[in-house]
Amino acid sequence: MSDANQLLAGQVAVITGAGSGIGAAIARKMGRMGAVAVVCGRTRDTLQSTATAISQAGGQAEVIECDVTDLASVESLAKRVDRRFGRVDILVNNAGIGGSGSPLHQLSPETWDQVLNTNLRGVYYCIRSFAPLMIRANRGHIVNISSLAGKNPLPNGAAYSASKWGLNGLSYSVAEELRVHSIRVSVICPGSVQTEFSPHSAKNSAKMLQPDDVAHVVAMLVTQAPQSFASEILLRPTLKP
Ligand SMILES: NC(=O)c1ccc[n+]([C@@H]2O[C@H](COP(=O)([O-])OP(=O)(O)OC[C@H]3O[C@@H](n4cnc5c(N)ncnc54)[C@H](OP(=O)(O)O)[C@@H]3O)[C@@H](O)[C@H]2O)c1
Repeated sequence: MSDANQLLAGQVAVITGAGSGIGAAIARKMGRMGAVAVVCGRTRDTLQSTATAISQAGGQAEVIECDVTDLASVESLAKRVDRRFGRVDILVNNAGIGGSGSPLHQLSPETWDQVLNTNLRGVYYCIRSFAPLMIRANRGHIVNISSLAGKNPLPNGAAYSASKWGLNGLSYSVAEELRVHSIRVSVICPGSVQTEFSPHSAKNSAKMLQPDDVAHVVAMLVTQAPQSFASEILLRPTLKP
């Protein structure tokens, strides 16, 4: 069922990592609010499931495969969006991976590279490719999905934590670069969310944040009045799980 007010009607929202978890919830929310949801990730089947859910709820979705660690792939995504829609109003940089769960001195350089290339370099590639479209239109909203691990230490997750601390610094800095173009760059730092992402078996799932909770915050950010700019949201569960 579509949200009655269709506040994003006519807009185009690109969501990376939209085949599962938080990204899928954000894409469904953008679709329900009337935006065309461009769902991106590396796995066509899961993206297609998200797109089907959006269509069945009366929304519009476009599936585009993209690996955010590959600049050519991200540039091709931006070109396709520009050719097909001529605009991008919302970019949600959500694609991300965890780590190995081992102390840093035992982490392989390959895993370090995968984590940093996905969670940090991938966001740079997406902003590099999509910001010019937003600057051209003198409007837009970029939402980066970080983590409370970008605010706190995460033992046995140092590469992940470093990628999210880096993402926060990137977000604050790019926000200053782009606000002159009326583009808002916001970062959301959620605590543990119930997804396949990492085993949170020690936690009480009934108290955990859900993917829709993050989607709700994205919806709040992209529907602010033009003069208002919430730049950073720390999202915690009400009761500790
Ligand atoms: N779950 C949590 O507790 C939690 C808490 C705070 C923050 N976060 C953040 O929230 C975001 C989403 O996490 P999630 O929990 O929803 O995990 P998830 O279900 O594993 O979703 C991650 C998505 O990213 C995509 N992805 C991974 N590498 C990619 C690449 N190179 N290019 C394009 N897409 C890629 C995956 O799809 P493919 O593999 O098909 O590409 C997948 O759909 C991440 O940035 C994560 O750091 C999660």
